[in-house]
Amino acid sequence: FATPLLVPPAMPRAGTLDDGRGQIDYYEIGVRQFTQQVLPAGKPPTTVWGYGPLATENDASAIFNAPSLTIEAKTGTPVRVKWFNQLVDADNKYLPHLLPVDQTLHWANPPGGITGRDRRPTFSETPGSYIGPVPLVTHVHGAVSVGDESDGYAEAWYLPDAADVPRGYAREGTWYRFFASKAIRQGIRAPRSGAWHRGTAVCQYPNSQRASTAWYHDHTLGMTRLNVYAGPAGFFIIRGGPGDEVIDTRTETPAVFPGPAPGHGDSPGTTYFEIPLAIQDRSFNADGALFYPDTRAFFDEIAGPYIPHTDISPIWNPEFFGDTIIVNGNTWPFLNVEQRRYRFRLLNGCNSRFLILDFNGIPGVDVWQVGNEGGFLTAPVNMTAANGNRILMAPAERADVIVDFTNVPVGSHALANVGPDEPFGGGIPGVDFEAADATSTGLVMLFKVRPALGDDASTPPQFLQLPVIVPLTGGITRPLGLIEQMSEDFDDAPAETRLGTVGDDGRWTSLGWNQAVTENPSQGDTETWEFYNATADAHPIHIHEAVFQVVDRQAIVVEEHEHEGAHEENGGRVYLVPGSEPRPPELWESGWKDTVIAYPGEVTRVRATFTAAGQYVWHCHIVEHEDNEMMRPYRIGPMQP
Ligand code: C2O
Ligand code: CU
Repeated sequence: FATPLLVPPAMPRAGTLDDGRGQIDYYEIGVRQFTQQVLPAGKPPTTVWGYGPLATENDASAIFNAPSLTIEAKTGTPVRVKWFNQLVDADNKYLPHLLPVDQTLHWANPPGGITGRDRRPTFSETPGSYIGPVPLVTHVHGAVSVGDESDGYAEAWYLPDAADVPRGYAREGTWYRFFASKAIRQGIRAPRSGAWHRGTAVCQYPNSQRASTAWYHDHTLGMTRLNVYAGPAGFFIIRGGPGDEVIDTRTETPAVFPGPAPGHGDSPGTTYFEIPLAIQDRSFNADGALFYPDTRAFFDEIAGPYIPHTDISPIWNPEFFGDTIIVNGNTWPFLNVEQRRYRFRLLNGCNSRFLILDFNGIPGVDVWQVGNEGGFLTAPVNMTAANGNRILMAPAERADVIVDFTNVPVGSHALANVGPDEPFGGGIPGVDFEAADATSTGLVMLFKVRPALGDDASTPPQFLQLPVIVPLTGGITRPLGLIEQMSEDFDDAPAETRLGTVGDDGRWTSLGWNQAVTENPSQGDTETWEFYNATADAHPIHIHEAVFQVVDRQAIVVEEHEHEGAHEENGGRVYLVPGSEPRPPELWESGWKDTVIAYPGEVTRVRATFTAAGQYVWHCHIVEHEDNEMMRPYRIGPMQP
């Protein structure tokens, strides 16, 4: 606990625009490579990537950090961003990836890359290691009704406009060209330059949604795990509007929340009472470089040999668990807090790790969850009563919490993590699984508590009357499957997980990224999606474009189709446990979510209204799974644009 917590500054705007319908907040944001002190002072710095502002008139020196700067948005005011892929060096030559890219997956595969399926001229001399330019595309996770041209479709990536990307090579993905031309037709176009196809994309987010804690990160096909691990992710906080109107029940007047300091973006050390906390796990080499496995051998004892797609040696691992915890870009930071209430906007930004944040080591603390991905819950939840003073968060889930340090003794108190150092299947730490290593990944950050410097005017959470949420009703039900696929060639190969459909007879069909759309709600329709989890682990399922309400969960029977020591991807069957009753969502799952934990042995039901026509994705947010086919396109409205 050597480093003070970094509070990401607000992303500087490039200006404001008016498209005739009102103000638009305009940003120009690049992804660049730089070094940052992620490890404590005295240790080597780490080369990372991050989003930061391009130089503007007001701000000559662009600031970058990883996690990146916070985009501050207002309900009802669109944000337009011109995103730049600036992974180039000082000579405008492209920078290779910081991490090993597995080309045997179904991945972005820019022309010039190499795959066993479709060999093409290559930037790489070494089969299995891609050393070409890095494709990027940004998704704002939690943005609703965006339109597909701006949603960061996994194949809408683009390369840097580098001098050494040869002529004759397309500079961007096929889908990118489709979405870019659609965006231009819609007038979502950068006012300063028409350089659409040269390492940039212009996207617009309407923010016609509730106040909420969204985040933005890279979403490139088959390499999201690597791109995000290298750094490009940040908060996108939407404030204001009816979804932000909370009443103090004592006075029937607007409630007061612990707020960010005026002029959000002050340097660390300034008193803040509202702080976003991005929690991630990472591993480092001795020289400070990010470590990510470049071989299957590393996890052999748990993973076994890989399902060979090609003759090129595969390096994908089914999950990644780092051996350090970083919060807002530093390993195990500390935060000075006063004896008063704080509002923390928590994000699990890990690749695979489910966090169970444990406040029991902080004597006298009082923790209330008031929001999740889609804004406020229907009512504040006291976490001691609801979950033993613990907050469970799957990758990509957010929790908006009020932590009251008023009765915490002055001194240093650690926030612990009792989630597992391996895949999560549900259950209780210490009973159903071994909690994270208590001396490393079991520690998150330190609170240094000191006396309050002034009165705490914030409303105690039990007196918060949160905005009313009307439950969705009606619509069709789509049974969908989370399916384990075993190698037909190796008995001891690891499972790979897929998404798919479940028929009326309960038989599942596993479907990959390239297969035709099967989920096609009409624009404006409400549907219930059922996730039958036939695998052994919990998966956080994320639907783009819509927020949903968690309906319930129910126990299922999984009948695998066994054959010759492995089971086939198809032919298995799921059905409800006879006589079982659905169980209601957890208290902290009320309101609107965009990511839900689908537990093994259960069907998890969510309900959403699909608003903007276009092609989007739904996927597992264990990004190693997402990158290996656990993602499906889906389409709202007509199948032909
Ligand atoms: Cu946070 Cu589709 O992603
Ligand atoms: Cu998964």
